[in-house]
Amino acid sequence: PNHYAVIGHPIAHSKSPLIHAAFARQTGQDLEYGRLLGALDDFAGEVRRFFANGGCGLNITVPFKEQAWALADERSARAELAGAVNTLIRLDGERLRGDNTDGVGLVRDLVENHGFDFNGRRVLLLGAGGAARGVLQPLLASGLRCLVIANRTTAKAHALAALGAPLGPVSGCGLDDLAAERFDLIINATSAGLADAVPTLPSDCLAPDGWTYDMLYGDQPTPFCRWGHEHGAARVLDGLGMLVEQAAEAFWLWRGVRPETAPVIQALRQSMG
Ligand code: ATR
Repeated sequence: PNHYAVIGHPIAHSKSPLIHAAFARQTGQDLEYGRLLGALDDFAGEVRRFFANGGCGLNITVPFKEQAWALADERSARAELAGAVNTLIRLDGERLRGDNTDGVGLVRDLVENHGFDFNGRRVLLLGAGGAARGVLQPLLASGLRCLVIANRTTAKAHALAALGAPLGPVSGCGLDDLAAERFDLIINATSAGLADAVPTLPSDCLAPDGWTYDMLYGDQPTPFCRWGHEHGAARVLDGLGMLVEQAAEAFWLWRGVRPETAPVIQALRQSMG
């Protein structure tokens, strides 16, 4: 079989091996997909050894996505803008192509799994760190009317908006500047949930019929999902679908086959109880 893996630090919790094993079974592809605990001081060496030993592709997770970007010999446009690579593809010889499937995973989960129509919509992206930057290009290509990036540290929101400005209608602001704004979709790309917190938002910034999406997920509703329920969101989504969709896009890049994601999302949800 062909060999693939996900590399990160920590890595034990990663669901990617489960997801790719399910894709391989479903599509009849002969491959193995493992976990690699990357050494914090030798990421490049580990990647080189994996591919030298015949590996065909890697997924990259925290904290190595920026290093993977730097290491790639060529990059997709969406990875270029993301400044981060979550998928490495072996090209002819020793060369590696870097891509980033996180943003397309987010957009596809919303559009294809849940029927969200970006056309004409006002979208709020919370956060201006790596997670927000990683989804910027696909969001701006979605047909949305405008994207507002709001961050606790305003300057970082301005910087990220400036990066996206050539690609579509985007602006940056501080969380404090959101009064009197209404959004059809609010996406949480902050890490606040990891500390059981939510960014401080005006209580009326969600439009009637507006949706919330937390890029985090968990076996319990995340803090931002709770915020969505408490503020009357029409739909409250977490990032489990995005996780599976980004994996499906990587599988497609490697194998040229698109797996069905719905049964895999359902199985993961059930296994999380
Ligand atoms: P990641 O790779 O997950 O994006 P990061 O680059 O460290 O991690 O970025 C974390 C993001 O979550 C930042 O936008 C951060 O806001 P600041 O730039 O102001 O630090 C945001 N964040 C983290 N905790 C937060 C909280 N309690 N409230 C609001 N924003 C928070």
